[in-house]
Amino acid sequence: MLHRVLAEIEQQFTVPTGCMKTIAAAFHNAMVDGLAGRASSLKMLPSFIGRPTGQEQGKVVAVDFGGTNVRILLVALTGQGQFNIVARRSFPLKDKAKNYDYTSAAVEGKKLFDFIAGNIAEIVPNEDIIYPLGHTFSFPCRQFGVNQAQLISWTKEFKTAGVEGQDIGQLLQMALDRKGQSRVVSQAVINDTTGTLLAAAYRDMTTDIGTICGTGHNSCYLEPCHPLTSQPMVVNMESGNFDKIAQTKYDVLLDAASEKPGAQRLEKMVSGQYLGEIVRIIISDLRDCGYLTLGDERLSVPYSLPTEEISVMLADTTPNLAAVASVAASRWGMVGRDIAELAALQTIASFVALRSARLAAATWVGVLLKIDPELDRCHNIAVDGSLYEKMPGYAGHLSRAIKDMFGAKASQVTVRLSKDGSGIGAAIAAATVYNAKG
Ligand code: BGC
Repeated sequence: MLHRVLAEIEQQFTVPTGCMKTIAAAFHNAMVDGLAGRASSLKMLPSFIGRPTGQEQGKVVAVDFGGTNVRILLVALTGQGQFNIVARRSFPLKDKAKNYDYTSAAVEGKKLFDFIAGNIAEIVPNEDIIYPLGHTFSFPCRQFGVNQAQLISWTKEFKTAGVEGQDIGQLLQMALDRKGQSRVVSQAVINDTTGTLLAAAYRDMTTDIGTICGTGHNSCYLEPCHPLTSQPMVVNMESGNFDKIAQTKYDVLLDAASEKPGAQRLEKMVSGQYLGEIVRIIISDLRDCGYLTLGDERLSVPYSLPTEEISVMLADTTPNLAAVASVAASRWGMVGRDIAELAALQTIASFVALRSARLAAATWVGVLLKIDPELDRCHNIAVDGSLYEKMPGYAGHLSRAIKDMFGAKASQVTVRLSKDGSGIGAAIAAATVYNAKG
């Protein structure tokens, strides 16, 4: 019985090559529509920044605010694609033990940015010089200039009050001023995908896609001739909102119970914020239908399986699935020695992870269809994020998916980790803008 139902789930989560190609073509069309200002699930947001030269220099502050952990870097860019991280600091925006949560609807944005500014003050040396600041802010923003970015709407289940519709650079600058840090001057607000692209392109000029496979999911690309400027410009596609992919009944359940039903449909199938929850919904359904016997009432608690534990389950090669057993016991009280049930958990996790990678890869191929349909040039896809870096098998699934779609021509495409790219990219953006002012 369990065997048969797993085969059905596998079928629902499998993305065959033909299906990836269809998704890639639909994604390409959505890009073209979004760029031309027609209705599209891709926002195609301009960034007002192009590819770096690799010669950008200076000592700058980078803020990387993309999830519940914020990082601040003091970076010395030395040109020729080189940089040093002089100091770093990272801190969570919510901490149960310390009794704070700056992501909650009960907290005003001013408090959130004061908290970040206070942490910046801890890292910037007390010298009387201007520190240009680049801010990676990994949420959809309507951009009117490189330093003018208005939050359209929170994603990743953030709810802080009074930030949507506001200018993010200004909110942070005002908070810095309140903390007596006016010599730290905001120069650029960029998306983390843009940061990832800039950081990789600083060293490798073939980079023209930047993407995040982490808590959230999104990609940007370098548009060779942007309609606003007729110049090359990085475009933040907000591809997590792409909506031309068929949902399973589990995706529908997850979406309906989420903070913003209907929004971010691709992200809800691909990103770390949601993969654990998809697995939980499937397992809870199997138990309700009597295919699984183990587990207590915690199995019905939304988000009771963090995606990192999917990685733990996938990495388990022990004959008795000791790591899977330990996750299942600690999360859902699944204690028992039923190896078939534990194996089912691991198998379901692997279906969900594989689908995530193949969907992401299909969208990148959609971008390549737009910028180089015959694949005449080499393209580097710069990736950052915990799924890519840490989930067993994930990077391999991506490369295989690209091979499946392009065959021999896939050798023109590299997919490389741009570690800490979003932070370094913010530093490059800040230096570019500050130096251009002379
Ligand atoms: C946000 C994007 C971001 C992505 C990765 C999504 O939820 O909407 O702006 O790039 O997460 O962090």
